[in-house]
Amino acid sequence: MVIRGGTVVDATGSRPADVLIQDGVISTVGSKVGSVPAGTVVLDAGGCIVAPGLVDLHTHLREPGREEAETVESGARAAALGGYTAVVAMPNTEPAIDSAAVVRQVLELGRGACCDVRVAGAITLGREGRLLAPIAEMAALGVRIFTDDGAGVQDARLMRRALEYGSALGVVLAQHCEDASLAAGSHMHEGEWSSRLGIPGQPAEAEELMVSRDLALARLTGGRLHLLHLSTAGSLAMVKGAKASGLPVTAEVVPHHFTLTDAAVASFDPVFKVNPPLRTADDVAAVKAALAEGVIDAIATDHAPHAQEDKEVPFYQAAPGMIGLETALALALTELELPIERILALASWQPAAIAGLTAEHGGPVAAGRPANLCVIDPTAKWVVDPAALASRSRNTPYAGRALVGRVRHTVLRGEPVVIDCEAQR
Ligand code: DOR
Repeated sequence: MVIRGGTVVDATGSRPADVLIQDGVISTVGSKVGSVPAGTVVLDAGGCIVAPGLVDLHTHLREPGREEAETVESGARAAALGGYTAVVAMPNTEPAIDSAAVVRQVLELGRGACCDVRVAGAITLGREGRLLAPIAEMAALGVRIFTDDGAGVQDARLMRRALEYGSALGVVLAQHCEDASLAAGSHMHEGEWSSRLGIPGQPAEAEELMVSRDLALARLTGGRLHLLHLSTAGSLAMVKGAKASGLPVTAEVVPHHFTLTDAAVASFDPVFKVNPPLRTADDVAAVKAALAEGVIDAIATDHAPHAQEDKEVPFYQAAPGMIGLETALALALTELELPIERILALASWQPAAIAGLTAEHGGPVAAGRPANLCVIDPTAKWVVDPAALASRSRNTPYAGRALVGRVRHTVLRGEPVVIDCEAQR
């Protein structure tokens, strides 16, 4: 296969080049690819960026247990359409991914999917926050990230033990920062809009207390901490301070926290219900500033599919979450005033490093490397149509939104899984 006529962008810089791929591996990168043997698949990259495939640290694939909302297969197809060649599947499935058996099951389901499916294991059994899960057993199967995402680990002593245990095993502990007592009974951010609408809210402090606690615990234990979907100006300021003091913490943000505010909830449309909730315009500005300053390591999706019966109900009954795999890159390109190299760092090689995937994903586009690539047309204009998305669920808050920038092709180990914005299987 040859990807012809694009500009290669990776962590080493950018240059116009064709990319020749043989047997799943990049064989030549340069302007001299010229004539190719008959039968070679040619992907047109004219006017496009050719980059390492994107890596999502935060995908809910819902299998096992919620296949009506998403399956590993459908979620991986949505991921490939969004330019991802690897995703980390969150463990809040039914049952939770809290044992070697369920890890094996999800990895098995991911074999042959449109992107590489890696797994995050639960920190505690059943994500109940009471007893540590068999982290070493899951780490032995290659699991590198552990989280109870969907909930934070409330017990500080247990989180301390998890960080200590994780540091001995060389794995990352990822926290969903939410103090359950302060957030109890809430359906949105607590502020002007929750007061006007009469919807119980959770204050920014529900997130910030746990960010503060976990930074302290990371300092105490030397454990590797990753902070999931940060959403408040206060959280970002704490991460900035912690990094300045040399703490090896990493953090991610998600597109809905740099594109939407809590004012959207005035529609009472449950599509805008999410955890952490949509915040204020000041918080959105802080997320954008943190991305621009390099305080944040990754843009993740928190792709959280929900079936109609869980989402199209009154606001206070609806499940929190939004789908995001097919819109994340375009939202970043459209809404962030950042060079594409920075956006790709945040969506590809930096998350690949956090997840321990750099041998296969996010690495330089160079001879000898596995051909896990995406081809992005940065000027393509399109409008989000929920019915046209590959996810089994339709809960996108961006229906009708005009975006600029689209994934044209995605290549997984040399196989074109997306050609001209169409999934190939
Ligand atoms: O809105 C959310 N939905 N936040 C989470 O942390 C979990 C997710 C889900 O699993 O639906």
